Amino acid sequence: MSNKGQNDVNALTAHKSIIDLWGEISPTTALICGSGWSDLGNLFTSLKSTNYREINGMTSTTVEGHNGVLTLCDVNQKQILIFQGRRHWYEGEGWGPIKLPVELAHLFGIKNLILTNAAGGINKDFKVGELMILNDHLNLMDGNPLIGPVSDDKMPRFPDQSCVYNTELRTIAMKAGEMSDLNLNEGVYAALNGPAFETPAEINALRILGADAVGMSTVPEAMIGNGFGMKVHAISFISNMAAGMTPNKLSHKDVENASKLAMPKIIKFFQCFLELIHK
Ligand code: HPA
Repeated sequence: MSNKGQNDVNALTAHKSIIDLWGEISPTTALICGSGWSDLGNLFTSLKSTNYREINGMTSTTVEGHNGVLTLCDVNQKQILIFQGRRHWYEGEGWGPIKLPVELAHLFGIKNLILTNAAGGINKDFKVGELMILNDHLNLMDGNPLIGPVSDDKMPRFPDQSCVYNTELRTIAMKAGEMSDLNLNEGVYAALNGPAFETPAEINALRILGADAVGMSTVPEAMIGNGFGMKVHAISFISNMAAGMTPNKLSHKDVENASKLAMPKIIKFFQCFLELIHK
């Protein structure tokens, strides 16, 4: 490594702390769970599990619906590292805590990075409770998590972003959708700062820009994972139709409740997806 930034020091500290707690591990896939997705951490045989508090440098989110637990699971004799809870830009602590799980995944030599979130549906064909596989994104957040010193030999100064979301993993997800009888949409995710939900005028503008769904996360982690050369995959749970598309007001409680209702079916799909990846 050369030209280390503060984040890398945090990542190295957290990495050492995990090895001290768990011993050597060799995960091939990392999964970062968004709002309402934490149940994914209980899907497979858990090998190890630790609260973020126990890991030096890792902090828990302040947002409801994110557990703050790191779990190592076994899927077909392959290890997956599950971050149950993510940090957000609107929490006001900068890019460091958001980037840390991806930097950790990189230090563990992880090849597949899977990101999940809850999002508002902008595409009029989508329905609440459906999933959308990301095929691209619009980064409309304040800045760019890649700004700053290039901290690792694997990270180019100017990463190519022609195909951030790996096509092979998208094909596998579609197959898992068919196998578990779940209708999957594909589309473009627009990432905004939050924490306020959008206005109806903003949603109309985002639709004209080409967005199918809107949320407040995922894109920073996808950009870092892509920069490190990981196979990145991301899935949005459509927890509500975006502002102005229905007469309903938006609330985080409704986002959480919608996830709770739909999760059992989604979990079946996810199990199938992870098993296909690790066949
Ligand atoms: N907008 C932004 N973020 C979200 C939404 C939304 O409508 N739903 C869930 N996360």
